[in-house]
Amino acid sequence: MAETKRTATLTLDGKTYDLPVLSPSVGPDVLDIRKLYAQADVFTFDPGFTSTAACESEITYIDGDKGELLYRGYPIEQLAEKSHYLEVCYLLLNGELPTEKQMTDFEFRITRHTMLHEQIHMFFRGFRRDSHPMATMVGVVGAMSAFYHDSLDINDPWQREVAAMRMIAKLPTIAAMAYKYSIGQPFVYPRNDLDYAANFLHMCFSVPAEPYVVKPELAKAMDRIMMLHADHEQNASTSTVRLAGSSGANPFACVAAGIACLWGPAHGGANQACLEMLREIGSVDRIPEFIARAKDKNDPFRLMGFGHRVYKNFDPRAKVMKESADEVLDLLGIHDNPILQVAKELERIALEDDYFVSKKLYPNVDFYSGIILEAMGFPTSMFTPIFALSRTVGWISQWKEMLGDPTGKIGRPRQLYTGHVARDYVPVPSR
Ligand code: SDX
Repeated sequence: MAETKRTATLTLDGKTYDLPVLSPSVGPDVLDIRKLYAQADVFTFDPGFTSTAACESEITYIDGDKGELLYRGYPIEQLAEKSHYLEVCYLLLNGELPTEKQMTDFEFRITRHTMLHEQIHMFFRGFRRDSHPMATMVGVVGAMSAFYHDSLDINDPWQREVAAMRMIAKLPTIAAMAYKYSIGQPFVYPRNDLDYAANFLHMCFSVPAEPYVVKPELAKAMDRIMMLHADHEQNASTSTVRLAGSSGANPFACVAAGIACLWGPAHGGANQACLEMLREIGSVDRIPEFIARAKDKNDPFRLMGFGHRVYKNFDPRAKVMKESADEVLDLLGIHDNPILQVAKELERIALEDDYFVSKKLYPNVDFYSGIILEAMGFPTSMFTPIFALSRTVGWISQWKEMLGDPTGKIGRPRQLYTGHVARDYVPVPSR
């Protein structure tokens, strides 16, 4: 719980107001303005929430200047090297690393929730084959609330727990089914003898006509990508899940809202947009042309996979992803990949360019992830669905934390209204 160690004073129209200053365990202090409107009859104005802490949380900490990311206090670099995705899921959900027994029980429960209600298979049939898998995922995840009626009551801690398990377990199955549907191949059922990441790869790439063995190194690379995407403080999609959850909406509807928000190219959709940009650049000699466009105020083009609201230093996830890209391409015998060469040269040039240096624009999590996923055999349309299935544990952990806050209330921001003041209706003949 944050402490109040001092107060700030606001002077407005000759009156002074004391604002408690809340101190976190780490990071910037927070001005508590919850009583400001009642006391001073004024709102604060922060449309992009650049200076706003929307909640109190113990889950993930980011230091944008240092390029630091902690899940429940553990640095992402250590978890990426020493942990695995389901252990990170347990950590994010429960706050501590699991004992061996806790991990075994958790893995057993998740594994046995990976199948979908058979009726849900029909949902996919209603979509066009060329639907974007994110459209399918938004639809199918939202529709889960029409099936799993025994895990909709958000006031029942057990039902919240079951909903969390179902979501973490079933999102890979849904993502894989969306992919299979888009390429006209039959759905592949999950297998309980495979670990989480290997199971996802098997559901995506195996076909009934022949055996498919998942390469352990690729499963490990997939697992690492999932860990890197698991949670990220109060980003746009997590804030969407929290806002939806604050109205009491069921967990499946909240996660569907998060998936919808993540889809945007400024957020989770950047991994697809980034690889498509790298493909469009095509060769290192065209990089200056795109750098110039990114700097041109009159050109809406931005370097996808670059920049971040919080990180004003390297995104620590991008560093791990870059190392993983080299490993995976080498494992797959893909040498001199032109896209990777363009990405590395673009990063080098951009990081020497004053425009990017002055604005502290560095590669983010989306800059290298697409190169790995494409090398694994995924189309660009599957990049954001993989981000979504990986982030589901973060959304659910934040949703659980929000519901556990006894002071919680429905999120309802106000506005700076600059429209017409009251005026009388004008009959048509007088207009
Ligand atoms: C994710 O929030 C999270 O944590 C998200 C995420 C997570 O894990 O949940 O980390 C995942 O969404 C990563 C970000 C993926 N998006 C992209 O890669 C898209 C490209 N990046 C940008 O659109 C942008 O950097 C944002 C959206 C990520 C952040 O934008 P901000 O913080 O609102 O910053 P801004 O748009 O106000 O930009 C500040 C300046 C502007 O120039 P000025 O108006 O000050 O002159 O930097 C420029 C921008 O024009 N700028 C860029 C740029 N990003 C910012 N210029 C060129 N290329 C870019 N990529």
